[in-house]
Amino acid sequence: TKGINGLEKVVLREPRGSSAEVYLYGAHVTSWKNDHGEELLFVSSKAIFKPPKPIRGGIPICFPQFSNLGTLEPHGFARNRFWTLDSDPPPLPANSSIKTFVDLILRPSEEDIKIWPHSYEFRLRVALGPGGELTLTSRIRNTNSDGKPFTFTFAYHTYFSVPDISEVRVEGLETLDYLDNLQNRERFTEQGDAITFESEVDKIYLSTPTKIAILDHEKKRTFVLRKDGLPDAVVWNPWDKKAKAMADFGDDEYKHMLCVEAAAIEKHITLKPGEEWRGRLELSTVPSSYCSGQ
Ligand code: BG6
Repeated sequence: TKGINGLEKVVLREPRGSSAEVYLYGAHVTSWKNDHGEELLFVSSKAIFKPPKPIRGGIPICFPQFSNLGTLEPHGFARNRFWTLDSDPPPLPANSSIKTFVDLILRPSEEDIKIWPHSYEFRLRVALGPGGELTLTSRIRNTNSDGKPFTFTFAYHTYFSVPDISEVRVEGLETLDYLDNLQNRERFTEQGDAITFESEVDKIYLSTPTKIAILDHEKKRTFVLRKDGLPDAVVWNPWDKKAKAMADFGDDEYKHMLCVEAAAIEKHITLKPGEEWRGRLELSTVPSSYCSGQ
């Protein structure tokens, strides 16, 4: 199907009503809706669906470099390349409850090899479960023929939709060490309770548990992230000043989004030729039992 500006997208639908949309441009998930048709991801009203600009919102893929931690463009180039659809993907395990998925593949072009001199196959599987769970599985394989290993960092830069950031808290990261992107990536230890939001935040939490929860008190809904192969978690909200400075982001939209990004940053991933890395993120929602002040 055609999406915005004629860009190709794939729509996944489950019989109970949930759905997801993936653009071939960036292998970018731009929509994830629950059984009631409610949108769960944030996409900016100012998002520019025009290459080479990455799409502001949804789930950008950061590869082969997270942020500016290297010589490549920030967050790498996977999010602004055209991926191809695998029309004959390997099947899911026979016992899997998931029936709806799509596989997108990225291989380097000659131009890409000039920027990052490695050959690889990146297969992203986006799968929608019967209960509306959204699973992203990245498999990256070193296909270098020169015997050379390569090293990368990675993130699923997920933008969650929340009605009011001041009513949100994140659980699972308290007491962990983090690098603060707002303070020269200095290392700190998180103090106290669950994380809440009242100003700009840009932190890389290290060695995080496989499960992180985002509690949305306003919607009485909790997003549950389950991850595998992705030890770190970035938490980002630009707040008012940075929001104003971003051309593809509305001035007040910081109130309605939160990025919690399952990532592999601190310990770089190194693959020898023939080796494959797998990074998996499962997103689901549950009704929230959290009550403010209790
Ligand atoms: C976050 C980074 O992951 O992405 C922030 O930690 C950055 O530092 C943000 O500002 C947005 O990046 P971009 O390139 O999509 O504007």
